[in-house]
This record gives sequence, C-alpha cells and structure tokens, in this order.
Amino acid sequence: MPVFLISRDTIEEVKNRVDIVDVISDFVSLKKSGQNYKALSPFSNEKTASFFVVPSKGIFKDFSSGKGGDAFTFVMEHEKMSYTEAIRYLAKKYGVEIKEDKQSDESREQQTEREGLYILMNFAKEFYKKTLLESEEGRSIGLSYFRERGFNDRTIEKFELGYALEGWENFSKEAISKGYNKDLLEKTGLVVKKEEGAEGAGRTYDRFRGRVIFPVHNISGKVIAFGARMMGKDKNQPKYINSPETEIYHKSDVLYGLYQGKNAIRNAANCYLVEGYTDVISMHQSGVENVVASSGTALTEGQIKLIHRFTDNVTVLFDGDSAGIKAALRGIDMFLKGGLNVRVLLFPDGEDPDSYSRKVGTTAFQEFLKDKTQDFVSFKTSLYAAEAGGDPIRKAESIKEIVASIALIPDPVKRSVYIQETSNLLKIAEPVLLTELNRILIQERRKADKDKFRDAGQGGEAQEAVGVEPVQEVNDAKIDTGSMVYYQERETIRLLLNYASQNLAEQNLSEFLLNELEDVEFSNPIFKQVFEEFKSGLAKGQIPDSQYFLQHGNDEMKRAVTGLITHRYETSQHWGDKYKIFIPKENDVLNELALTNVLRLKFRVVQKMMEENLIAVKHAEEKSDWDELDKALETQAGLKRAESELAGMLGIVVAK
Ligand code: UTP
Ligand code: MN
Repeated sequence: MPVFLISRDTIEEVKNRVDIVDVISDFVSLKKSGQNYKALSPFSNEKTASFFVVPSKGIFKDFSSGKGGDAFTFVMEHEKMSYTEAIRYLAKKYGVEIKEDKQSDESREQQTEREGLYILMNFAKEFYKKTLLESEEGRSIGLSYFRERGFNDRTIEKFELGYALEGWENFSKEAISKGYNKDLLEKTGLVVKKEEGAEGAGRTYDRFRGRVIFPVHNISGKVIAFGARMMGKDKNQPKYINSPETEIYHKSDVLYGLYQGKNAIRNAANCYLVEGYTDVISMHQSGVENVVASSGTALTEGQIKLIHRFTDNVTVLFDGDSAGIKAALRGIDMFLKGGLNVRVLLFPDGEDPDSYSRKVGTTAFQEFLKDKTQDFVSFKTSLYAAEAGGDPIRKAESIKEIVASIALIPDPVKRSVYIQETSNLLKIAEPVLLTELNRILIQERRKADKDKFRDAGQGGEAQEAVGVEPVQEVNDAKIDTGSMVYYQERETIRLLLNYASQNLAEQNLSEFLLNELEDVEFSNPIFKQVFEEFKSGLAKGQIPDSQYFLQHGNDEMKRAVTGLITHRYETSQHWGDKYKIFIPKENDVLNELALTNVLRLKFRVVQKMMEENLIAVKHAEEKSDWDELDKALETQAGLKRAESELAGMLGIVVAK
C-alpha cells in the first residue's frame, strides 16, 4: 500500500528555515532577556513570566505548564495541530514548497538503506575520532599533525577530526566485529573491493589508511562523507582522498563547514567561501565562523542555492595566484546569476586563509577581512586596470567583461547601482555602459525566450510571457510570417471580444486598437469581418460584445468567437510554475497587452509585406525592368526601416 508523506527534503528545508523567535512571536509577545526571550505563559494564566525561548538552541520551555520543545512542538501545542499540520503551517509561513512522496515498499526499503549508511558513517566517525585521541599512532602522528597546524581541542571536537591507522583492514575488522555487513561497508565507500582481474580480485580493504580524517556533515549534522589528508609528502599519492558519491553523499550539493557555520552565517548575514577543509577550520579558530568550502569541486549551482537559503551575501576568498583569480571570477558570475550579492577578497600571492590567519594572528586577520573586502565591480575593475595598463582596446574589453557580469544580476535596481559605480570607477559615461548592458540583456532575453518556446514545443518565436500562452495553431506548422500575422490578428480580435470596453490610460481598449490599426488590412476573412463590425459599432457609439457575434454570425464565426472567449488563456498558471515567471492577470496588464499587440501585429504585417515585395523585386530583376526594380527596392528599404523601428519598440533585435 503506497502512503503519501511529506517528503524528507521538505521537512529538512522547513527545519532549516524556521526561526523559533519568529514563530512564537506570531502568538506571544516576547521580551528580550540577555541572549534569550521570556513572556507570560501562553499555556496558563500567570502573573510572572515563566515562558522562555532559547534561540541558540531553537527551543522553548514553559515552566508553569511543563511544556517545552522546538518550533514544531510549539505550533502543535499552541494551535492544537498534528505534526503534519504543523509542518504545513510552517512551510507556508516560510514559503517552502511542500513536496509529497508516494512511499512505495521499494522506497521504504531505500530509506532503510539510507538509515543504514548514516549509522555506519557515524560509527566510522566515532572510530576515527577515538583512534586520533586514544591510539599510540593516532596521537603521535595524527594529533601531533593537527597541533602543528595550530588546531586546539575545541576545534578538533567541533569538526570531529579523526585519524585512520596505517594498515589495510583496521576499520573493516572493527566494523564487521560490531555486526555491520560487508555490503553496507562497500556502499559507504569506506571499504574498497579490488577490481576483477587485479591481483587478489574480490578482496576488500579500507579506503582511508594512514591519514587524518575530516568528516563532512550534512546540514543537520549527520556525517555523509570523509576527506582524508595524507601525512608527509609522498609525491605519488593524492594529498586528499575523499569519499565517493553514495546514496547519502551528493558532492555537488554539499558544502564543507555549513553545519558548523550555518547559525553564524545567518547572524552575520554573510557567508565566506574558501577552498579547503583547513581554511574553514582555521577561520573558525580565528573567530570567523560564517565560512564554508566547496572542497575541491568547482562551485556548483546546488551549492549556491544552499548558501542562498541562509543569506543573500557571499564573500569569495581566494589565493592571489592566477588559478585563484580564475576561480574567483567564475565564482562571482555564478553567484550573481543566483541573485546573491558578491564581494571578493584576494589573499597575497601564495597565501590562503589558513596560512594567512596563522601568520598574522586573529585580530589582524579579522581586520584584513574587514578592510580588504571589495565588491565585485571594484575587484574586477582593479584587476583589469592592472592588466590593461594604458591599452585602450584591452580597456574596452575589460568594460565588456564587467558589464557582462552586471548583466547577470536578476534585480534591475541592483544592476543600475553597479552601472553607476562602474561609471565612476572607470570614468566612463553611464549611457555608454547602459547601451552595452542593454545589448547583452536583449540578446539574453531573446535566447531565453527561444529556449522557452523550444521547451514548450513551440517554434522559437520570441513572445513575451505576459498574459497568454502561444496559440496551438502555429504549434506544429513551420512558423512563417503568414501564420505570425494570423496569430497577431487573432490576438487583436481576442482582446476586442474580451475587453473592448475596458479603460486603458486615455481611451477604452477598442478605441485604442481601432485607431492604432486604422490602416491595417486583416488577412483572415473572419477576423476581418469581426474587426469591421467593431469599427462600424464604435462609429455608432455601440460597442458590440461577444454575445452579438454569437447571435448574428454564421457558424464559422460562432466557432471562432467561442474559441476566443472561453477561458483557455487563463490556464497560463502552469507557465508561471514551470518557468518561475510572474504572470499577472490579464486585466492588470491590458495597457501593455494592447500596446504590444498593436506593435506586434504591425511588425508582422510589415514583415509579410517585405516578403511579398521581395517577389516583386525578383520579378523586376528577371524582366530587367529597372524602374520597377528601383521602386520595389525603395519600398523594401522603407519597410525595413519600419521593421527596425517596430522591433526597437518591442525590444527585438532584427537582422540588418
Ligand atoms: P588544498 O590543497 O588547498 O587543501 O586544496 P587544504 O585543505 O588547504 O589542505 P592543506 O592546507 O594543504 O593541508 C583545497 C581543497 O581541495 C580538495 C580538498 O577538499 C581541499 O580541502 N582537494 C585537494 C582534494 O579533494 N584532493 C586533493 O588531492 C587536493
Ligand atoms: Mn591549505
């Protein structure tokens, strides 16, 4: 029997988002008291405050009734909700989309397997920790290594650092003696099986040997992977050996240090991004805890989303060498695209956060972070200024680079702020930068529209997402100017039938459309007839409505009109869901709809005329009728000008 359950991801997400003070404040008026909050008990009548909230632990305690727990418990108790209802309530409050899993027997099995993996990873972590602190080899090699790097006991505990002994089977033997099965050992990646064909094929051995161990935690603190650093300097070995991808470890969605740093990230409203395990740890020791590492993988979109759940601001810390700069530039653009505010801090050549913090000490290090952090525009500007020297061509290139980054920012207000800053820094007039920016944006938009239409099974015509879905009729046909004219005519008629008397800015919609389209000849006979009826109706001061056509028209007209007034267009909701674009109700955007419809219809009509006129050009050429050719070419040029002008108003780029 399949059961429907709120997915674990959803519950995790809600747990990560809730802020207990915020949740309880919706029901109880809290007073700050030191680090905590107190109030009169909402569960009993009392005169002195005995209700406490401890934000650092995410819990509340009510001494008068004895109730206590986390944000979920509070909502359940206070609102008399079930656990599921509480999750739904909080998901709604924090805008978390609820995903449900149909749990089959199979997925229950999978879940059991995942649980098994977590348990074994936890066992391994404890084993490595114990080895570090209690074994002879662990202390003399592992622990002394950490000491040398300046890690203190608290840090070692906080990051649950460990040591894996030399030898092929120390861990496997221990795990098997504790009853873990071999299959599971392999599935965690802690044990490796020798390949078929290799010597001793089929035999297994420990993956991590003679290395210090860095556990990788997921957001809720469970160990899901390990990084293991070699001791000494054997050139033939990789410096780090990491866990492989498993059922519970998807490298591209994990950030090292996020579990230990997430509260600090939220509180500081900023996240530092560094490269390595040891950078994260050293920064914690220097009192900077809002830090994560991408740990050897190139930054991924999943990791960016992960950071974005906790803050809008990120500071990328990188080596001042060329590889570091390259990585920083790539990171900047990805963060901008993800809608985060990005700042950058470059360390002196050859230094990283770990080495530098130990070199200069805690205070100087924190000051360095504060003083040397630049926003991405000034970072890029100084970078390119140094590179370009006085070379004007290089300078032009670097301007393009900077504007290209700005173009990635989704928020137009932020974009304009950065354009201003760039203008100031580079001493270039704003309009120059804006033109460049617009060029990029228009190209991007067209590309996005094309992709969108391709994905939706459409032919690639750029069509803004306002209001309507593209019509089905042009769906499978090759899109030619004829059908685009048809589509726009149809849209004009649809607007007239549905909104003729609605007020636009100065006139009603029918007045506006009829005036604007005065000299446009409709090609489709039905649409033409309807349009003419509107014209004569309006002249008499009687705007026809859809009922009129349904009563007076012939069958063909009735069918056409019915098709245009039924509500198929309001189904565009799923577009919004699918493409994450906000689709306003048509009524709210009539001005825009009417105007773009007019422009688009004219645009298409002009294009169709150009197509037809080209035939005239060809004929004239064939007949060597130079007068005729001259006339036709002039017409073509005029149409081309009209096309460009309309395209400009529509924000479409047309071929020269
Ligand atoms: P680093 O070489 O900078 O490592 O690589 P580190 O953590 O600062 O280590 P120390 O200071 O030399 O001890 C940065 C990150 O790249 C990944 C690791 O996640 C490391 O933290 N890495 C590096 C690997 O996965 N494998 C490697 O062989 C090297
Ligand atoms: Mn390092």
